[in-house]
Amino acid sequence: MLIERLSSKTKVLDELLSGGIENGVITNFYGPAGSGKTNICLLFTLSALKKGKVAYVDTESGFSTERFFQMGGTKEDLQNVIYEHPSNFQEQELSLQKLKNIEGLSLIVVDSFVSLYRLLLNDENITNINRELAGQMAYLSNLSKEKKIPVIITNQVYNVNSNEIELSGRDVVKYWSKCLIEIKKSDENRRLAIIRKHRSQPEGKKVEFELTATGIEKAKFKIF
Ligand SMILES: Nc1ncnc2c1ncn2[C@@H]1O[C@H](COP(=O)(O)OP(=O)(O)O)[C@@H](O)[C@H]1O
Ligand SMILES: [Mg+2]
Repeated sequence: MLIERLSSKTKVLDELLSGGIENGVITNFYGPAGSGKTNICLLFTLSALKKGKVAYVDTESGFSTERFFQMGGTKEDLQNVIYEHPSNFQEQELSLQKLKNIEGLSLIVVDSFVSLYRLLLNDENITNINRELAGQMAYLSNLSKEKKIPVIITNQVYNVNSNEIELSGRDVVKYWSKCLIEIKKSDENRRLAIIRKHRSQPEGKKVEFELTATGIEKAKFKIF
């Protein structure tokens, strides 16, 4: 089976992912606020718009049309973005359900997959809410297979101790994400993207990038 990939249209991320994100599976970009997750979603959105429509489920009002235009998007491109803006976890479920009947999708983005889940979560409902989370992941995984398109989710993290982080949604999101990419700040302007799980690339493979006026670029060598 030939696995087709969606290019990020940036050398640095395509180098990391050996061409791009895979069709038919969920790719999860996780990291702290400000690490660049939404920027990465926008890059893949722009790339996918060359092939079809993009469903963008935005739970954090992170989609900036200004940033979209900075990265080369046009007003015509925006018309092919199916934008969903759920405000609670139940609405997120409804937003996702709508996607199965949309023809011509080339990418589904859920940015962030876990922020509304986190808002709802408490000690009493954790079992039920985790079941719903797993249900949404299974559903997205099926959609990506049926439609032969990539799915991107983003994921917040929390600190377990001073040098360990954990993904919100933990085992549920890790199990269903066939590709896990950690994004972290290496200094104020620089970010590291590290492969943590992949079907054909080594764990620990990493690249360093910078967020620039027009998108993302490979970090330049530092001159001390
Ligand atoms: N035009 C720009 N030039 C450089 N950096 C930018 C630009 N626009 C946004 N950024 C940077 O992008 C970062 C936020 O990235 P974002 O993808 O929203 O993070 P996350 O989704 O992980 O919270 C901020 O550090 C911000 O300064
Ligand atoms: Mg974001």
